[in-house]
Amino acid sequence: MKPARPARFVSFALLLLATGCDDMSKQHKENPYASADSAPAEPVPGTVEYHDAPHPVPRLTMGLLQRGRDEYHAFCAPCHAETGNGDGMVVQRGFPAPLPLMAAGGQTGGPMHLHDVITSGQGIMYGFAQRIGSDDRWAIVAYLYALGRSQHATRADMTPEQLARAP
Ligand code: HEC
Repeated sequence: MKPARPARFVSFALLLLATGCDDMSKQHKENPYASADSAPAEPVPGTVEYHDAPHPVPRLTMGLLQRGRDEYHAFCAPCHAETGNGDGMVVQRGFPAPLPLMAAGGQTGGPMHLHDVITSGQGIMYGFAQRIGSDDRWAIVAYLYALGRSQHATRADMTPEQLARAP
């Protein structure tokens, strides 16, 4: 090997050492929470305090289910797909695929688990607490049950009118 190369590499490394190792954590900056006095005790005027306190579960109505369908299509279907199969557009573009939501003939883990996952996220899925209100999160849970049931419906689930029209 020619000696010029290592020499050039060493001088480059020295240059990096001299210029590139500025520790930014040591530079001067304001820390707004440095003293307890400066932490805001009251909400800033013009803003609303955010609490995610336990919230009553809304009544199950057709309107709630329809709201849940719309919210699911807007917020969840991009990844989970309208069917819940987990092959939504974002996944088709490379995001890791979630497991099918309806795997066990309906829902994974029960309504509280579903509400928790929507609220706080799970694994690489982010939570929706800031984007979807508690009632709407319950609406999505209700819709997931309806979606699961629709995919595992039997003749016993059908009304006499539906049965009359069925093949
Ligand atoms: C950006 C893509 C993305 C979006 C948007 C998204 N999810 Fe997910 N979701 C995932 C992925 C990926 C997982 C698997 C997470 C893991 O375990 O790492 C997951 C997991 C879940 C699970 C857990 C299933 C189980 O095994 O318990 C539920 C339930 C769920 N999502 C529901 C929803 C609902 C409802 C919405 C809409 C409010 C939503 N997700 C929005 C990607 C997404």
